[in-house]
Amino acid sequence: MSNDPQNQSRQSDAMASVSVADIGIDPQYCVTPERIDPCIIVILGATGDLTARKLIPALFHLYLNEGLPESFQIVGCGRTELDDDEFRNRMQSALQNAAVLDSNRWPAFAAALHYRPVGYENLASFRELAKYLGELDRKHSTHGNRIFYIALPPTLYQPVAQMVGKTGLSAEMTKGNGWSRIVVEKPFGTDLQSSMALDHSLHEYFDERQIFRIDHYLAKETVQNILMFRFANSLFEPIWNRRYVDYVRVTANETLGVEHRAGYYEQSGVLRDMFQNHMMQLLAMTAMEPPSRFEADLVRDETSKVFRALRPFPVDELSEYLVLGQYSAGTIEGKSVPAYREEPGVDPNSATPTYAMMKVFLDNWRWQGVPFYMTSGKRLADKITKIAIQFKTVPHSMFRHVLGETILANRLTLGIHPDEKITLTFQTKNPGAVVCLRTVTMDFLYHQQYSGPILDAYEKVLIDCMLGDQMLFWRQDGVERSWSFLTPILTGCENADEPQKTLHFYEAGTTGPQAAQALLQKNIQGH
Ligand code: BG6
Repeated sequence: MSNDPQNQSRQSDAMASVSVADIGIDPQYCVTPERIDPCIIVILGATGDLTARKLIPALFHLYLNEGLPESFQIVGCGRTELDDDEFRNRMQSALQNAAVLDSNRWPAFAAALHYRPVGYENLASFRELAKYLGELDRKHSTHGNRIFYIALPPTLYQPVAQMVGKTGLSAEMTKGNGWSRIVVEKPFGTDLQSSMALDHSLHEYFDERQIFRIDHYLAKETVQNILMFRFANSLFEPIWNRRYVDYVRVTANETLGVEHRAGYYEQSGVLRDMFQNHMMQLLAMTAMEPPSRFEADLVRDETSKVFRALRPFPVDELSEYLVLGQYSAGTIEGKSVPAYREEPGVDPNSATPTYAMMKVFLDNWRWQGVPFYMTSGKRLADKITKIAIQFKTVPHSMFRHVLGETILANRLTLGIHPDEKITLTFQTKNPGAVVCLRTVTMDFLYHQQYSGPILDAYEKVLIDCMLGDQMLFWRQDGVERSWSFLTPILTGCENADEPQKTLHFYEAGTTGPQAAQALLQKNIQGH
């Protein structure tokens, strides 16, 4: 460092401007700023995969970080006959598998875990459950507040919601009940009609404010951060539109295959599994207008407007807008993996797409003419989730006669997985006497200089349910708009004379079908 005090102060100003300090919020406050009401969390489907892999680890991690209410109880329900101790043992192993077990804190948490067998269409068993919840309320002062988390296959959503309703457990502030909330996982139906039927059935006993439709992508920190990034900075919003943006790419690539979920996936395919929900929310976060206040309904009004602005697909020119693919055998991370059609439970002639690239347009003032390319697929080379905003090239290059090359346009990448970071690429002069440009990046790592606890998406979801905050959950009008857009596409693809013909095969472990690259190249070059 120089000895000149003025110079020193300039240097320290410069350093201060590049280092971002941890804002020093008490770690406990980072988990939840508000007091959470005492409550009972009832998990319907407690012997299933979701409970063991996600829900109990999330609840335990919250417990370790003081993110649960002072008084809480967890009641697992399922068809299997188990007693409390057997259930606790299973959950202890689940925590061990998830590598979150803390043996010192486990006994107290385990004491709050209970199990009750129920038949999902057996009213008497739900009456027993209601009685049991009442007893727990009295014993543990949980004030009749309950969350019913449906961790079951979609065919059981309606019957179980009906059982909860018929037993009087959905009614709020009456007969010993406090608040009552129901949590449903996607898929919310399989098309517009079935999603409306499901909704109708949920609304028989629950009001919209009691229904929490989960999209775990919305609970990802870096997805929420898109709103802060866009609307808490004045720098980006003025250029976030058709005048400056050439195109946008939303990517959610996976290395995983269908795993043990063939039964579900064969009926769903990538469009229902990833596009109707997660991809649509990523699109909405990127494209929405600023809400007037950071409140659940105002934010969701804006996301719904994005879905409403989606230009319907010209189904007769589908191949100009949509590429569907299915993985064939290949190698992922050095291991040979089978083709989708060879996976257990998959029809050997299956035409179910495991990959899609879709080009969509939003018919509104801000985005007119800007293509959004959305890509998601299984068994691809890397697990990557990101949104790339590709800006336009400079209108005129004064360097053309010197450099004789096109100047690469700026790109802003919002990395969601595995890199939780924001990257801006731009041009600089390459050091040296020769005039030559160099593309460089400016990076922000999401957790840089932060030392507090990091919440998994399911932890965030559970906290928000306990707080009754619906901002990061789907509202029914959004679900219906998303299905309204996709249903004709699905019908067009599924009713095509030979759906197999429009399916492009790609080797597992690659970047997807050639046809997708071709669609992208053709369009990007034309831009
Ligand atoms: C789920 C889909 O909703 O999201 C899965 O059903 C998919 O098929 C998963 O693998 C991807 O989630 P993430 O958080 O790993 O990107």
